[in-house]
Amino acid sequence: LNEEVAVLGGTGRLGKGLALRLLKEHDVTIGSRVKERALDAVKEVKARAESLYKHSGYKGEIKGQLNSDAAKENKIIILAIEADQLYDFLSASKDYEWRDKIVLSPVTRMKKTDDVFEYYPFDIDGTKVSAAEYIQHKLHDAEVISALHLVPASALWSLKELPSLDVPAAGKEDVFRRISKMFEAIGNLRFLYAGPLQVSYLIESALPLLLNIATRNDFKNAGIRVVT
Ligand SMILES: NC(=O)c1ccc[n+]([C@@H]2O[C@H](COP(=O)([O-])OP(=O)(O)OC[C@H]3O[C@@H](n4cnc5c(N)ncnc54)[C@H](OP(=O)(O)O)[C@@H]3O)[C@@H](O)[C@H]2O)c1
Repeated sequence: LNEEVAVLGGTGRLGKGLALRLLKEHDVTIGSRVKERALDAVKEVKARAESLYKHSGYKGEIKGQLNSDAAKENKIIILAIEADQLYDFLSASKDYEWRDKIVLSPVTRMKKTDDVFEYYPFDIDGTKVSAAEYIQHKLHDAEVISALHLVPASALWSLKELPSLDVPAAGKEDVFRRISKMFEAIGNLRFLYAGPLQVSYLIESALPLLLNIATRNDFKNAGIRVVT
């Protein structure tokens, strides 16, 4: 099944990596606040795709748009937005048509003090919530799914085969299934359903844990696998 997916903030490290991998099977629109930047990212991703898929080829088409147009034209929308800028993005995008859209959040907000990464949640009326719950609260018409926090952008952008990584995800189960299927074609990312959006903070907060371990043990591109 070929999907049409927009990657907003797709000019950044995670966004370009996701666009590159999704392009193998799906149509991708890179979104940006500045159309020129989106078009530059498209060129970069296309050039990279020519090398990565030299032997296999790729099926998707790629284009660049303003975030607003990319969101309007696609059903599945990945928010590859810098975590500290989420407030800004959500207020700039509050009038987009979010009804019935699937919004995938890979966002983890962190603080780094004295070389220690800590989870930094959002706030709704004094209650601490995850980034994904905060997005769902603001974009109440959309279906938010939380995933990909523990997949390093560098692994996605690399010209090597993706390492086998597990991808815990939270949200509604039917949405999880569709997103999981969309990524299945890419290979090596095993999506694991963790439950409703309320467990997203557990997934998001695994990222600072992973980064604290990685920096102290000299691991590059650290991800997770669940062993059974
Ligand atoms: N890097 C990773 O390995 C990784 C892995 C998993 C998850 N994540 C999560 O993915 C998200 C993106 O990470 P990243 O490393 O790709 O970030 P990044 O490169 O720092 O930034 C991504 C994009 O955010 C957009 N942006 C910045 N300020 C904005 C604003 N005020 N309003 C709207 N868009 C704005 C920019 O796009 P334009 O300037 O083109 O609009 C930028 O290219 C983060 O939330 C992070 O937690 C990252």
